Amino acid sequence: MSKQAPRAQWASRLGFVLAAAGSAIGLGNIWKFPYITGQNGGGAFVLVYLVSIAIVGLPIMMAELMIGRQTRRDAVGAFIKLEGKRSPWCAAGWISVAAAFIICSYYSVVAGWTLEYLYRSLLDSFSGQPAAAIEGMFGGLTANGPRQLFWHFVFMILCLGIVIGGVQKGIERWNKILMPILFALMVLLFLNGLFSAGAWQGLAFMFRPDFGKLTPGSVLEALGHAFFTLSLGMAAMITYGSYLNRKENLLSASFRVVLLDTTISLMAGVAIFSVVFSVNMQPAAGPGLVFKTIPVVFSQLPGGQFLAIVFFLLLAFAALTSNISLLEAQVAYLIDERGWGRKRASAFLAGLAFVVGIPTALSYNLLSEWKVVAGLVFFDAADLLASNYLLPLSGLVTAIYVGWFWSGAEEKQQLLAGGAGWVYPAWHFLIRYISPLAVAVVLYFKVRDTGL
Ligand code: PFF
Ligand code: NA
Repeated sequence: MSKQAPRAQWASRLGFVLAAAGSAIGLGNIWKFPYITGQNGGGAFVLVYLVSIAIVGLPIMMAELMIGRQTRRDAVGAFIKLEGKRSPWCAAGWISVAAAFIICSYYSVVAGWTLEYLYRSLLDSFSGQPAAAIEGMFGGLTANGPRQLFWHFVFMILCLGIVIGGVQKGIERWNKILMPILFALMVLLFLNGLFSAGAWQGLAFMFRPDFGKLTPGSVLEALGHAFFTLSLGMAAMITYGSYLNRKENLLSASFRVVLLDTTISLMAGVAIFSVVFSVNMQPAAGPGLVFKTIPVVFSQLPGGQFLAIVFFLLLAFAALTSNISLLEAQVAYLIDERGWGRKRASAFLAGLAFVVGIPTALSYNLLSEWKVVAGLVFFDAADLLASNYLLPLSGLVTAIYVGWFWSGAEEKQQLLAGGAGWVYPAWHFLIRYISPLAVAVVLYFKVRDTGL
């Protein structure tokens, strides 16, 4: 804090958009979105999801970026700067950094699974194997603690290597390299889906709404996912916003990020369901869709090894650019609030994330009998705490703060001046009424349904 070095900034708007899109586009788009769409019956769920993105996701993303840019601080420091150290609003900052910390540790374990699958695709381990054997590999991996720890370690080292380089020379530079490759890989898989025998079925599943299949539970799931997929409530967007130049138009920048994230999710859905239907498999496989169904599907298609390599490389890149934003959100806190140097902060936090990730990696083997809370293993308990409680809670507080209590003069005026006449009133209405209400409803039902 004492050193008055000029604070880091993105070198260009493209750099910011790619970094923020890198944070947003992750396992949530390519792993989770397709499988929850599959479980919730397709088209109608997709429609509700798109509405949630527009009326809850986009306004809160703008609010977080505004807070970051106005204060030029990490998420905790941002609220301290705005309201003072003793203000209860600081809770939003603390909760979001805590969420980033928890998610960073287990996201890395799941990312490690994608590295294992990438490795197996490179070795061509799926071709010619019976479906049951391929599906069994996933259970074999989760039963294998040391192997998961190895990949978890490798993944955290990669994240550390990027974050330690700083905002421009690490995060921005690597997003500029990885994100275009990610888009190209996605286009390849999307076209492969469109030219496969199941294309029509895949498209119909994604885009023909059957409202009979919509349950109140699916609406909640769609809303909750809108939050996770845009990296909201986890300090990431406040932190990335804090490196954003005052001159940039925040509305158009946020819009691009949201559009990229949504496009990738929809393309991933089409790419996956088309090939799944083309070999007559089921869309509702759940979390195993990507790690069990997809390898089976590819093993039965011509060029399957190549497709598998492309798919798991895509997944690994997506996870990497997301996890570095979670790490950076915590690193920024130690730099801005505690006066640490970047190298020390990055190494310390990556090490800590590795250690906290250990019980996650051991959750389905060594520690499978250890029920942390309500019969949940460590992994599930961490996920429950972060996704069900911390995220909606910090999102709710942030939305109420920005909608009702923050004067935010500069940022709000810029928004007022920067868009068409209806933009500001529309945003203000959503952030005041709709976003907090929607998040509160999600929070209420999640708490009620888990009974915790
Ligand atoms: N948005 C990421 C995804 O969809 O996979 C997950 C995520 C990354 C959430 C980074 C939050 C975050 F800070
Ligand atoms: Na996402």
